[in-house]
Amino acid sequence: SGQPLMDPFGRAITYLRVSVTDRCDFRCVYCMSEDMAFLPKRDLLTLEELDRICSVFVGQGVRKLRITGGEPLVRRDIMSLFRSLSRHLSSGALDELTVTTNGSQLARHAAELAACGVKRVNVSIDTLDADKFRRITRWGDLSKVLGGLDAAQQAGLKIKINTVALKGVNEDEIDDLVAWAHGRGMDLTLIEVMPLGEIDGQRIDQFMPLSVMRARLGARYTLEDIEERTGGPARYARVRETGGKLGFITPMTHNFCESCNRVRLTCTGQLFMCLGQEDAADLRAPVRASEDDQGLKQAIHDAIARKPKGHDFIIDRRHARPAVGRHMSMTGG
Ligand code: GTP
Ligand code: 5AD
Ligand code: SF4
Repeated sequence: SGQPLMDPFGRAITYLRVSVTDRCDFRCVYCMSEDMAFLPKRDLLTLEELDRICSVFVGQGVRKLRITGGEPLVRRDIMSLFRSLSRHLSSGALDELTVTTNGSQLARHAAELAACGVKRVNVSIDTLDADKFRRITRWGDLSKVLGGLDAAQQAGLKIKINTVALKGVNEDEIDDLVAWAHGRGMDLTLIEVMPLGEIDGQRIDQFMPLSVMRARLGARYTLEDIEERTGGPARYARVRETGGKLGFITPMTHNFCESCNRVRLTCTGQLFMCLGQEDAADLRAPVRASEDDQGLKQAIHDAIARKPKGHDFIIDRRHARPAVGRHMSMTGG
């Protein structure tokens, strides 16, 4: 294998997040506008091309692959990508192949994901109230997602629930979500809303600082910080009363960019070096220019060499426009 990928700030890039489609069957109010326009299908990389790019990254020292979207499990024949990428787990080149999903299609894919060597999945659930769930996702069916969780647990997958903390929407429910998730043996991670892409409302009206949330959770639970990390940005606490793990992803109130280890590939072959910056490198051209991987490797190294130090997200009344024009669904978080 080649030289490890090292950015200008001495951070080793060992984690690639891959958004396999910008499409989603939900329209979460903090993520997209209701009339969101999606990319034409002809612009997408094929699954073979995505596999090839991922494999070159693995050859360059990437140890963790996360398949995201949009909703990754709505992409046609997506399981063929998992089947093919699982060879890197078998060879020992990859530590983890995993997926972040809204869970709507999980029931029909859970067993095969497990068979492909996926050990854990991250499922986004912002509320346990079916009506509220429908309002947040604009039409999502909570019972289908819960069925997906059952199937995933039956298949032996570990689950982490991702919950975006939303002011006036689910802030009163977070302590119940902790009890529910931990009671089912799942980890829970809370996320601060980020200013990515235009939505119908204003993120300042949705933003709930997790510092406040954490203090409030203290009324019901005892939180003990733990050092354990999963290679993602979350900081974890152990909840003494439940024994479960509670994660906090705090891009707005506690920046974690200094330990960044990841880059993001979009479904059109753009490589974003930072979630919070506009700069991207095109990997589609080198993939299509030659069957040989040399040009692609070079393009990847050149891109990593310009990875920025971090994001400069701001959410306040004077910054009504999002910091970054594209939506989370382009880069999969
Ligand atoms: P694990 O730690 O492996 O469970 O994964 P993760 O937390 O990195 O992944 P997940 O897909 O569950 O992402 C959860 C949230 O973290 C999403 O909202 C992502 O946008 C956010 N996130 C992940 N990486 C970054 C990052 O580098 N910067 C920022 N600002 N947010 C990130
Ligand atoms: N800010 C924070 N989190 C977001 N997600 C989607 N859009 C945003 C946003 N603007 C979350 C989803 C999912 C994860 C991948 O990102 O709820 O859990
Ligand atoms: Fe879809 Fe995820 Fe965005 Fe919700 S947060 S609309 S599930 S991509």
